[in-house]
Amino acid sequence: MDALPNQLPNNQEPALRVMPQPHDANVHGDVFGGWIMSQVDIAGSIPAGRRANGRVATVAVNSFVFREPVFVGDLLSFYTKIVKTGRTSITVEVVVFAQRMRLADEVVKVTEATLTYVATGPDRRPRELPPLA
Ligand SMILES: CC(C)(COP(=O)(O)OP(=O)(O)OC[C@H]1O[C@@H](n2cnc3c(N)ncnc32)[C@H](O)[C@@H]1OP(=O)(O)O)[C@@H](O)C(=O)NCCC(=O)NCCS
Repeated sequence: MDALPNQLPNNQEPALRVMPQPHDANVHGDVFGGWIMSQVDIAGSIPAGRRANGRVATVAVNSFVFREPVFVGDLLSFYTKIVKTGRTSITVEVVVFAQRMRLADEVVKVTEATLTYVATGPDRRPRELPPLA
């Protein structure tokens, strides 16, 4: 995902923006990695659900790297890109940037992940992706 130093990507809207709160911190006071993983899963499911035109289930977290710590009060922006589709699956790259303490002038890429979702039917079994509109 292209971004100049200290800037959010200027050619894309984030799928999700959220600010971690004190109850999202670990025992050291920094944000708990599991909380970030949960938000990444939610962000990735947004383009996957749109492509599937319906429900999706997360089948795999293919990669997940915490590049920099996240602090309570950072404003996080989750940018997503579908990098692969199969018969029923959608693989999404999620890149997370933090605006430190909500201020725009310090922007840090904190997390990169790739997840695979499967389009599912009402029976929760895999469902073929609809044709692209
Ligand atoms: C998602 C689920 C319905 C898939 O069922 P399944 O019987 O494993 O499905 P299949 O083997 O037919 O695979 C379906 C697709 O997922 C892909 N897939 C399966 N396992 C995968 C893995 N480990 N990594 C990447 N892709 C995977 C397959 O390649 C296939 O893709 P394609 O149709 O585009 O070629 C089933 O595994 C499930 O219900 N898992 C729990 C999902 C869930 O609850 N997630 C929330 C977290 S608890």
